[in-house]
Amino acid sequence: MSKAAQDTRAKTQTENPVDELQARFADDMLAVNACILEKMDSHVPLIQQLATYLIAAGGKRIRPLLTLASTALHDGDMARAQYLATCVEFIHTATLLHDDVVDESEERRGQAAANTVFGNQASVLVGDFLFSRAFQLMVADGSLDVLRVLSEASAVIAQGEVMQLTTANNIETTMDDYLEVVSAKTAALFAAACEIGPIIAEEPPKAAQDMASFGMNLGIAFQIIDDALDYASSREKIGKTVGDDFREGKITAPVLFAMQHANEEEMVFWTRTLSDLNQTERDLKEAQNLIEKHEAIQKSKQLAEQYAQNALKDLSDIADHSIKNTLIDILDFTINREY
Ligand code: IPE
Ligand code: IPE
Ligand code: MG
Ligand code: MG
Repeated sequence: MSKAAQDTRAKTQTENPVDELQARFADDMLAVNACILEKMDSHVPLIQQLATYLIAAGGKRIRPLLTLASTALHDGDMARAQYLATCVEFIHTATLLHDDVVDESEERRGQAAANTVFGNQASVLVGDFLFSRAFQLMVADGSLDVLRVLSEASAVIAQGEVMQLTTANNIETTMDDYLEVVSAKTAALFAAACEIGPIIAEEPPKAAQDMASFGMNLGIAFQIIDDALDYASSREKIGKTVGDDFREGKITAPVLFAMQHANEEEMVFWTRTLSDLNQTERDLKEAQNLIEKHEAIQKSKQLAEQYAQNALKDLSDIADHSIKNTLIDILDFTINREY
């Protein structure tokens, strides 16, 4: 599809910013989606069934889009980018399958989470399958540098999820601890998705470092906003149950900001609900009230914006280019998104 045709298509889909972003790489995204379907194929029916259930439900496909945009920006081989974008989405999907088991989440992508439909065991095992498939795809690509970046990211994500287990229910958790978890569990894959572009294009290491840093900052912003939406959005919008983090006693940005200036009575509340996990049905509403009182959603957004500013600086050595604008648009979407 020509650039002009892509632009026209983008303009017809303005209601949904993600569609609009994807439309700029419409042909590549079609190839990625076809590759996803082909590579999740297995002769074991349950794998096929469960993977299709989650993947067909969509998802924003932000990470593969980043790989495509970052590769196009550096003039790399788009066939390889499509293949590796598939790999990135497989890693993401595998972590979601595992995450929903760990978090006992009931909804994902606007439908019952796979663990509630197929059970925890199947979710964990199919997550393992998708991880393994992702590694097969990396090996088939043949670049040791790509393999290094994506295998490192996978290890870091797993460590981030485990680290989060140890910070949950601990109201002594600091903003730094939180940001360390976020950098690992979410931003590492964003960083890897972006770093692949200049690697494929055989650009000098500085270009890869800049893109990795861009992805890292973007990923941190993405998760901070996600954590704000967990208190401030609706189930219809995010396709997940609101208040999951609260119910599990996760110490996230909105809670940290609300606790910063909490009075004694409020601290008793946070200790009972998050530390002791002794909650009644009305407590989520009370938590949301305290978050509002302390302007903790606005403060979380401001924090995310700081990371978005850093991400923008990471692009400063790259010459003006329409695809650079796509990356900037992804950044804007990340901060202002409602889903
Ligand atoms: C969900 O990621 C997990 C987080 C890192 C918050 P996305 O919000 O990108 O999920 P999908 O793929 O669009 O469903
Ligand atoms: C998402 O983390 C999973 C990973 C980043 C590995 P969360 O648990 O915070 O995100 P949601 O709310 O389930 O999407
Ligand atoms: Mg979760
Ligand atoms: Mg989680």
